[in-house]
Amino acid sequence: MSGDLLLWLLALGALLALAVQLLRFLRADGDLTLLWAEWQGRRPEWELTDMVVWVTGASSGIGEELAYQLSKLGVSLVLSARRENELERVKRRCLENGNLKGKDILVLPFDLADISSHEVATKAVLQEFGKIDILVNNGGRSQRSLCVESSMDIYKEMIELNYLGTVSLTKCVLPHMIERKQGKIVTVNSFMGILAAPLSTGYCASKHALRGFFNGLRTELATYPGIVVSNIFPGPVQSNIVKNALTNDGTQAVHSDVDQSHKMATSRCVRLMLICMANDLKEVWIADQPFLSLAYLWQYMPTWAMWLTNKLGKKRIENFKKGLDADSSYFKIWKTKHD
Ligand SMILES: NC(=O)c1ccc[n+]([C@@H]2O[C@H](COP(=O)([O-])OP(=O)(O)OC[C@H]3O[C@@H](n4cnc5c(N)ncnc54)[C@H](OP(=O)(O)O)[C@@H]3O)[C@@H](O)[C@H]2O)c1
Repeated sequence: MSGDLLLWLLALGALLALAVQLLRFLRADGDLTLLWAEWQGRRPEWELTDMVVWVTGASSGIGEELAYQLSKLGVSLVLSARRENELERVKRRCLENGNLKGKDILVLPFDLADISSHEVATKAVLQEFGKIDILVNNGGRSQRSLCVESSMDIYKEMIELNYLGTVSLTKCVLPHMIERKQGKIVTVNSFMGILAAPLSTGYCASKHALRGFFNGLRTELATYPGIVVSNIFPGPVQSNIVKNALTNDGTQAVHSDVDQSHKMATSRCVRLMLICMANDLKEVWIADQPFLSLAYLWQYMPTWAMWLTNKLGKKRIENFKKGLDADSSYFKIWKTKHD
């Protein structure tokens, strides 16, 4: 074979490989490392059994679905949030649909923003199960208000709940994991911890802060390779996050019946979270397109990303000012134009 022909074949092979990767990316609903782990990596069903898993924000949305999927894996579960009756409901469903007995699930209600309760809560878990293998920092709230109209109380709540609450609980659990030289600290961050969007300045700040904290903590734990710090960054996922978001005066958001069809199914997001935990991935991004591309753009081409986000953000603010839900109405318009 002549040298020229070999070169042509190599170039063709490279082009083909590139095309396959591009196709994979266009169909992706998570970053490519995560999807590789889903295809070739360790299964949650093999890796997570017999573990004690503490899930905050387990009364609704992502945390609730996580409790259901974990209950099928034979773990011991600690379910936390503020609303005890909702946690009891989740526990009942875990028992109906999962492989657990009543003694395998501890309902432990507390307010994440009340950091004085965290030490007692941690002791209660250790007393019940003797160990904590995985802490899933999932509890949190979002925001729907313009900075100029928002009271400082919003910013305080975002930081006290999403950031300080999570840091405090992690600090309570950490000495136990260090003593055992093992454990997983899994934090549900957000795309708002990578990029930024209007109406969520306080929320973005709290999630960016979490990313910095946990990336820093991981470097401090380098001498404990058995302790894994995982940051999970979901894009839009079906849950009650918009319904529970804070508005400019600190009251709950108004949109209770928003269309969530443009968001990822909660079950898919949680399955990918389990893949992350089973494979000890340090940072994962979970979102359908076009949101996934936006995160890549913010990471690798921030100037373009900011230009594009300003354009999209304008519409988001317009919708919000008309009293519509910022996102679902945006997607309704987009859908009608493209149907
Ligand atoms: N859904 C999305 O599109 C999305 C995207 C990216 C990231 N996330 C993140 O995913 C996590 C879960 O949110 P979600 O979407 O599942 O929303 P959700 O349905 O509103 O659930 C939020 C959970 O957090 C708990 N929580 C709120 N305030 C609390 C407090 N002060 N103390 C203790 N628990 C509290 C709630 O329970 P109680 O009300 O009973 O306390 C609830 O269980 C959040 O960290 C959120 O930032 C969500």
